[in-house]
Amino acid sequence: MKIKNICCIGAGYVGGPTMAVIAQKCPEINVTVVDINEERIKAWNDEDVENIPIYEPGLSNVVKEARDRNLFFSTDVDAAIDKADMIFISVNTPTKTYGIGKGMAADLKYIELCARQIARVSKTDKIVVEKSTLPVRTAEALKNILDNTGNGVNYQILSNPEFLAEGTAVDDLMNPDRVLIGGDIDTTEGKKAVDALVDVYAHWVPREKLLTTNVWSSELSKLTANAFLAQRVSSINAMSELCEKTGADVNEVSKAVGMDSRIGSKFLKSSVGFGGSCFQKDILNLVYISKSFGLHEVADYWEQVILMNDHQKRRFAAKIVQTLFNTVSGKKIALLGWAFKKDTNDTRESAAIYVADYLLNEQAEIVVYDPKVKTEQIYADLDYLNTRSSEENKAKVKVVNTAYESAKGAHAIAVLTEWDEFKDLDWEKIYKEMLKPAFLFDGRRLLERSTKEKIGFEFYAIGS
Ligand code: NAD
Ligand code: UDX
Repeated sequence: MKIKNICCIGAGYVGGPTMAVIAQKCPEINVTVVDINEERIKAWNDEDVENIPIYEPGLSNVVKEARDRNLFFSTDVDAAIDKADMIFISVNTPTKTYGIGKGMAADLKYIELCARQIARVSKTDKIVVEKSTLPVRTAEALKNILDNTGNGVNYQILSNPEFLAEGTAVDDLMNPDRVLIGGDIDTTEGKKAVDALVDVYAHWVPREKLLTTNVWSSELSKLTANAFLAQRVSSINAMSELCEKTGADVNEVSKAVGMDSRIGSKFLKSSVGFGGSCFQKDILNLVYISKSFGLHEVADYWEQVILMNDHQKRRFAAKIVQTLFNTVSGKKIALLGWAFKKDTNDTRESAAIYVADYLLNEQAEIVVYDPKVKTEQIYADLDYLNTRSSEENKAKVKVVNTAYESAKGAHAIAVLTEWDEFKDLDWEKIYKEMLKPAFLFDGRRLLERSTKEKIGFEFYAIGS
């Protein structure tokens, strides 16, 4: 079966870039990305391709090539479902904020809404692809809804989790380590559906990297991969605290450990804590699933990854307070970076939010500079915590346009995102702008200690 029309529900960080790359690589397939968020769709359709809603290196070029050729963005969800032979569901699956499983389980209401809408609209057979990250066995629930509320058409459900990381999304999509496709491979119809999706990716991904499994393995592999990645960060962050007590240097430890080919060197960079929309949410989900099967030791094991990460963010903020003579009340602290990592404007679960909140509780005045994050987003992130009123956040937090501006009259600077441009700042100039002693806290191990100390900074870096 050859796919001619693809619909993707959800034009977010995953749906947008993934579909743009599919459209670019498969010019004979029509790809329509739909969303209920009108503003987002409008931005994807903006005449100036630099204004698309997601910043990812290389993405605007891909969109420029494919948009209005075979890549379309629309709010007409029904029409796109009706026309498609393959439908990707790429909507958000945040942690539940209410009811059973509050604060842990994945909230599947958006997924269920999609399933019901697909069932209501479809008049021809469809392959439905889970692109969102979902709890293991969600495909069963989807199938149940589709088969029981539909118009008697046939559905095949595939799981095709996305492994792209933000900031490198286009490159990850163009050259993936693997593409995972889970399907009902024991039936002829199921196998046909899997093959149809394999054929889409085979336009540019070598066949040996297209991995097919049963649906449950695919769903669970995504949660497992994120848990393993986050666990490495928490492991090295745990060692960073021990390094600070013992004179060891976490970068040296990381290098020494990572050169063991059984361990490998990636994802061993100590930091102020991992952020992003996935790691915490997916591990909490894994913990919840494990608990729901009565697997308490498994749940506790993975929960520790989150507890360590929370500790790392808190401990970094506490270090600032302690170093500034045990009080930051009324002191100006500049935060360089608000995004959860470099090369993205995404701030979800960014460590910066929690460090700022901690310092605000200590009555600090915060100044933020981030090269890509918008001012409204910074206030929205703080307001979302509900720690204090929106007015208070506005009064205590200032957002500026340059790192130099943030340094004016500051008691301390904290580097919270590893943006390249922070390495090349004129640190002499920054030092001159600051109050003395001028404290510099590197939460990313981005800056060279010796040159900063030579300028006169009181320098603290995580893990040494
Ligand atoms: P996102 O919030 O950026 O985008 C989701 C979009 O879905 C939103 O624009 C929302 O308006 C839309 N939506 C929700 N319900 C809808 C409906 N019923 N009809 C139409 N549109 C609807 O989320 P994201 O970061 O793209 O993540 C999507 C999924 O992919 C999640 O399950 C996430 O865990 C997973 N994932 C994310 C990443 C990442 O790096 N962000 C990586 C891999 C997997
Ligand atoms: C992650 C997974 O990597 C990706 O496969 C999945 O699809 C979505 O979740 P993402 O959250 O976009 O991707 O970015 P990632 O590069 O994994 O970084 C996550 C967080 O960990 C960031 O805050 C980053 O700064 C931090 N990190 C990463 C470290 O602190 N140290 C490291 O060594 C690596």
